[in-house]
Order: sequence, then C-alpha cells, then structure tokens
Amino acid sequence: MQQRPSPDRLPNSYGDVPSLPAVGDLQLSDFAPAGYTCLELEIGFGKGWFLLERARSNPNTGFVGLEIRRKWVHLVLERARNRAIPNIQPWLGDAKQALSRVLDQGIFSNVFINFPDPWWKKRHLKRMVIVPELIAEVVRLLTPDGGLFVQTDVDFRADYYRQLLLDTPGLIPVRGNGTIDSNPFTTPSLREIKCEAAGLPIYRLLFKKGEGCERPVKIPPTSLIKGEY
Ligand SMILES: C[S@@+](CC[C@H](N)C(=O)[O-])C[C@H]1O[C@@H](n2cnc3c(N)ncnc32)[C@H](O)[C@@H]1O
Repeated sequence: MQQRPSPDRLPNSYGDVPSLPAVGDLQLSDFAPAGYTCLELEIGFGKGWFLLERARSNPNTGFVGLEIRRKWVHLVLERARNRAIPNIQPWLGDAKQALSRVLDQGIFSNVFINFPDPWWKKRHLKRMVIVPELIAEVVRLLTPDGGLFVQTDVDFRADYYRQLLLDTPGLIPVRGNGTIDSNPFTTPSLREIKCEAAGLPIYRLLFKKGEGCERPVKIPPTSLIKGEY
C-alpha cells in the first residue's frame, strides 16, 4: 500500500514556509516578530484559531507559533496576511527540538499548549509534546511572572500533565492544584470549540513561573495510555 506523505514533507504544495533551522543556537531576534517588548508563544497551533485571534485582539504583543505541520504554518501565515495581523510569526519547527536551543531566557509572558495530544497508541508516546524536558525549557523561557496554560480533553493525560507541572521546579499553580474551570484568555482554540460543541469535558491547567521554587523533580508514574495503570 502506498504511504501517504506526512504533511510537513509536502515540499511545494504549501510553498516555502518559515522554518526554524534544525540545529544550532537560536536567538530571540532570529524568530520573534520585531518591535514587541511583550511576547507570547503557542506550541502546536494547528489551524491557528487561537493564535490568530489572540494576536488580533492583543496588537501590542508579539506572537510566536511553533507547529510541525507545514500545511498549518502556510495557512496561518496566509490568514495573518489576509487579515492584516502583523504581530504574529508562525514557524515550522518542533518545539521539543527548538526551545532548548534558544539562548535567551525569560522572554515569553505566556506559553500556550492547547490540546497537544491526538496520539492514542503506545507507539505514539514518543511524539508527546508535554514531557519534563519541554516543560523545563518552557519555565526557563517564561518571564518571572509568566504563565503556562494547558488544555486537553483527555482525562488521563490531564492527570499526567497536572502532576508533571506540580512537580516541575519553578512552576506554581495559579490556584489549588492548577486546575481551572474556564479559559481565562477567552480566545478559544479550534479543538476547544469542537469539544464544547460536542459536550466533551475540557481539562484546563494554569500555572505561573514561581522564582526560587525548590521542589524536587519527581516524574509521575506513567499512565499515558488509556487503561494502562
Ligand atoms: C490536536 S492538534 C491541536 C491544534 C490546536 N492547538 C487546537 O487546539 O485546535 C495538536 C497540534 O500540535 C502540533 N504538534 C504536535 N507536536 C508538536 C511539536 N513537537 N512541536 C510543535 N507542534 C506540534 C500538531 O501538528 C497539531 O497541529
């Protein structure tokens, strides 16, 4: 059977999208929209509903997006141009490879990870976005009082993420155990809209960078595949 090419390997159909170099150090000036003192990052923006709308409604903030699918980078770039949204820079790039190469620290006032987990099978675990190494880099890149907002509709993943964030040094829950009921940023992501329309539960986590927070790193037990407890 002929294999369908992965969307990020469709070379010409989506043109040359801005791509982060696969290796080497990255500096803020290499990847952030110029001229903004306040910056936010969305990891895995998909069709960009959240990123585009948040950028449109916060014109004084610069937005960086990282996405591994070329098609979505092309789409968001085109929509940002058509809607005259200048404060947005989407990149083709794997957040798990890119963030650790960023030399600057404390640059994002908010980091968003909306519904990162469509992969259900055991063999897909290696593609998980929210892993301790990525979260450690997010903490390093957050401004001193920066926020990390995570949403998912997968209950057992929500449990894992919550425990991981609670156990990450330098992060503190905004309230209680970090769970919040509604999206405080008001802009919904596409997946969020679909979940709400379908009446699916949405698990939301809001944490803040808490300087000097000295908790041990304890990686939670893996229960990342449904039913594997
Ligand atoms: C389920 S979709 C959610 C899209 C959007 N955030 C939403 O809520 O509608 C997850 C997205 O994350 C992207 N993604 C997965 N792993 C990634 C990574 N390591 N770096 C950047 N993006 C990633 C996928 O390509 C996909 O577009």
